[in-house]
Amino acid sequence: MIFGRVKPLDAILATAEKKSLTRSLGPWQLTLLGVGAVIGTGIFVLTSEAAQKAGPGMMWSFVIAGLVCAVAALCYSELASMVPVAGSAYTYTYAVMGELLAWMVGFALILEYAVAASAVSVGWSGYFVGLLANAGIVLPISLTQGFYAPGGFMNVPALVIALLVTMLLMIGTTESARVNAVLVAIKVTALTVFIVITIPIMKGQNFDPFLPNGWSGPGLGSGLGAVGAAASIFFAYVGFDAVSTAAEETKNPQRNVPIGLIGSLLICTIFYLLVSAGAIGSIGAQPITGPAGEILQPGSTPFATQCQSLLAAGREPLVCSKEALAFVLRQTGHPALGNAIGIAAFLALPSVILILLFGQTRIFFVMARDGLLPGKLATIHPKWKTPHVITIITGIAVSAFAAFLPVGELADYSNSGTLFAFFMVALSVLILRVKQPGRHRPFRTPFVWIVAPLAIIGTVGLYVSLPLKAILVLPIWGAIGLVIYFLYGYRKSNVALGIVDVPELDKDAPPEPLPPH
Ligand code: ALA
Repeated sequence: MIFGRVKPLDAILATAEKKSLTRSLGPWQLTLLGVGAVIGTGIFVLTSEAAQKAGPGMMWSFVIAGLVCAVAALCYSELASMVPVAGSAYTYTYAVMGELLAWMVGFALILEYAVAASAVSVGWSGYFVGLLANAGIVLPISLTQGFYAPGGFMNVPALVIALLVTMLLMIGTTESARVNAVLVAIKVTALTVFIVITIPIMKGQNFDPFLPNGWSGPGLGSGLGAVGAAASIFFAYVGFDAVSTAAEETKNPQRNVPIGLIGSLLICTIFYLLVSAGAIGSIGAQPITGPAGEILQPGSTPFATQCQSLLAAGREPLVCSKEALAFVLRQTGHPALGNAIGIAAFLALPSVILILLFGQTRIFFVMARDGLLPGKLATIHPKWKTPHVITIITGIAVSAFAAFLPVGELADYSNSGTLFAFFMVALSVLILRVKQPGRHRPFRTPFVWIVAPLAIIGTVGLYVSLPLKAILVLPIWGAIGLVIYFLYGYRKSNVALGIVDVPELDKDAPPEPLPPH
C-alpha cells in the first residue's frame, strides 16, 4: 500500500540534529529575512495586472491574499520547527502522508519555485526595458515579449537574467547576509518614496467605481474580480516560508518564528495597501475593455492588442504598464524618481530570482537523495561544491518559460502549485496532531483547529479563483508527476528499497544560504 510508505520522522530528525546550527536569529532579523524574500515582482509589476482584474478593489485583494498567507504561515511554522530540514513541505508530507503524496507536493513545488523564478525574471525584464527606453534605447517588441503580444517573439532580457542567475548559483553564490540587508533597504526605500509621493495627491474620484468587475468577474474560472485578483496577487506574498525554514537558527523559536512570519507579512501587507492606494488614487486604475465592452484578461493577446492601440492613440493606462510603480511616478511628474524606482527593481529583483532558484535546486537535491529522482542529478561539482547538474537543468527550463510566457500567467501557474503545497502543509499539521500528539513541538500553531481549517479553506478558495488555465495546470502537472513516479520513484526510492536512514546532510549537501545577521 503506497500510502503506507512514510519516511520515519525520527530518521529525518536524526539528520537534522547532525547539522544543528547556532541559534542566533532574533525577531528583527527574521522579519528582515521575510521582507527580503517576499517583496519583488508581485508589488513592482503585478500591481497593474491586479488593477486590470479588480480595479481599485485590488486593495481588498491584497488583504484577502495576506490573510490566507498568515494562517498558512502559522501552520508552516509548526512543521518547520518540528522538522527543520531542507525540502520543507515535501519533507513534512513524506513523514506524515507518505511517499506518493510527498512526491506530488515536491512536484508541485517545482511550480512554486521554478515557475516563480521565471515570473520574476519577466518582471525584471519589464523594468530593464523601461529603463532603456527612458534612456532613448528602444528594443524591438520581438525581443522583449513572447508570442502572446502582437509582434512579440522572445523575451531576451528575461532569458538572459535567468541564465545569469543560474550561473551565479552554479559557481556557488548564495545570498549573503549583508547583500540581503542592503537589498531590503533599497526595496523598502523605493516603496516608501512611492507612498510619500503618491498618497498626498490621491483623488477620491479615482476610487470610483471601486469594484468594476465585482468580486469574481463573470464567474469562477475567469480569474477576474477582487477575489480573482487576490488569487494572482497571492504571488506578492510568496517567499515568506524562508522565515519558517530558519526556525532552527532562531533564538526562542516558539516566540520569534511567529513574530517574524506575522511581522513580515504585516509589514508587506501595509506597504502593499499603501502602494496600491497611492497608485490608484494618483493616476487611476480602472480596467480597460475590448471593442465590445468585454473584460480583457491581462497577458492575453486581445489585451496586448488593445494596449498597443491605446498607446498609438497617445493613451497609456496603468493596467498596460510593465513597470507599474515607475510608470505611476513618471505620470505624476517625477520622471527622475520613476527611473530611480526602476533602478531599485533592476537591482533587487535578481536576488528574488536567486532565492527561488536556490530553493528549487535544494528540493530537487533532496528528492534525488531520497531516490525519487536519479542520483546522478544530485552530483556535487568537485570545485564549486554545488549540485551543478540540477542547477543547469533547472536554469534552462526557467529561462525557456521566462522567454515565452507573460508574467501574470507564470505567476498564476506558480500560485496553483504553492496553494497546493500550503494546503498539504495545513492538512499535515492536523494529521500529525492526531497521530503523534505527544511529539515535541518547538512551535505550536495557536488555535490549530481553527487556523489550519481556515488555511485549508483559504488555499482552496484562492485556487478555484485562479483563471481556468492555471486551475488546470495543477492536475495536468500532477498527472505528469504520477507517470514519472510510477515509472521511476515507485521502484527506486530509498524507502521502496528498504533504506530508511537518511544520508548525512553535511557531507553531500550544497551550501545553505546564509541567514542575515
Ligand atoms: N513574492 C515574490 C515576488 O513578488 C515572489 O516577487
